[in-house]
Amino acid sequence: MKCRKCGGKAVINMRQHKLSLCTEHYLDWIPEQTERFITKYRMFSPQDRILVAVSGGKDSLSLWDILTQLGYQADGLYIGLGIDGGNGYSDLSQHLSEQFAESRGLSLHVVSVPEEFGATIPEMSTRTLRGKGKPCSVCGLTKRHIMNRMAVESSYDVLATGHNLDDEAAVLFGNTINWQTGFLARQSPVLEAHHPGLMRKVKPLCRFYEREMAAYAILQKIEYVYEECPYAIGSKSIYYKELLNQLEAERPGAKLSFYLSFLKAKDEGLFASKSTQDRTSLNTCHNCGQPTTAPGECAFCRMITAINR
Ligand code: AMP
Ligand code: FES
Ligand code: ZN
Ligand code: ZN
Repeated sequence: MKCRKCGGKAVINMRQHKLSLCTEHYLDWIPEQTERFITKYRMFSPQDRILVAVSGGKDSLSLWDILTQLGYQADGLYIGLGIDGGNGYSDLSQHLSEQFAESRGLSLHVVSVPEEFGATIPEMSTRTLRGKGKPCSVCGLTKRHIMNRMAVESSYDVLATGHNLDDEAAVLFGNTINWQTGFLARQSPVLEAHHPGLMRKVKPLCRFYEREMAAYAILQKIEYVYEECPYAIGSKSIYYKELLNQLEAERPGAKLSFYLSFLKAKDEGLFASKSTQDRTSLNTCHNCGQPTTAPGECAFCRMITAINR
């Protein structure tokens, strides 16, 4: 396998692009492609201040690395969830995020959920669900709330997350098999801020396969947490990823085409009425002031009230 650019030894073969590259050219190709996606989806410009949500995983740390390489002004935000999982998952993620920031002289905000709300994510989940179910929905709600609040309070222009193509295709698959039109209308590489207090959100890595991001992080020698969150094991999202990987194995490019065809259909007006409807029905939470679809308090504040009861 030879690098298409220099004829040297290729380290990765991307069947969906019919492209093999050596280390040097791969490490150039990923930032070049990211810049293309940023421009294509009008994500942000060099004047914008970007807040990158970093989990300590390969995607978000690589995203931060790529954005700073491309010359963007990007600070990080790490949210400590208090998840132990037998291997100190949250502590290790925080350590690697801090180490990454320090080694590159970057600025990282750290918000600790247990310190701020008096309970870890698993504890919050036990209190709200009374011991049933996984903490993932409580975790998602809390992360979204903190990310939006931090970005708005610190006057960033945009919040960037490290979602890759496998993440996006799995969400799309889940939303499609249940025809969740509201979620489908909102799934996009860019979520505009249509309400005061709502931050613009972007996913610059949404067209890269998970294996491409793993290869980038390894070749770029980024130290990241290899383990998934312990609660992700057996999740629907992992099951959908496995199904899509089976499809991809037989039809290279199927995952990318599934996602890109969806974006094209949306551009052509699919779900347009649903997204206008959602946009006009946002309220302001009476307690925290963040935008919400609920009439009084937002879902996050109602959850905090419930766990403190
Ligand atoms: P996940 O929801 O775990 O698939 O993560 C998706 C994206 O959310 C990551 O790529 C990060 O950008 C962001 N993220 C996840 N966990 C955290 C965290 N603990 N702190 C900050 N950002 C996070
Ligand atoms: Fe939140 Fe797993 S439960 S990262
Ligand atoms: Zn090469
Ligand atoms: Zn609220």
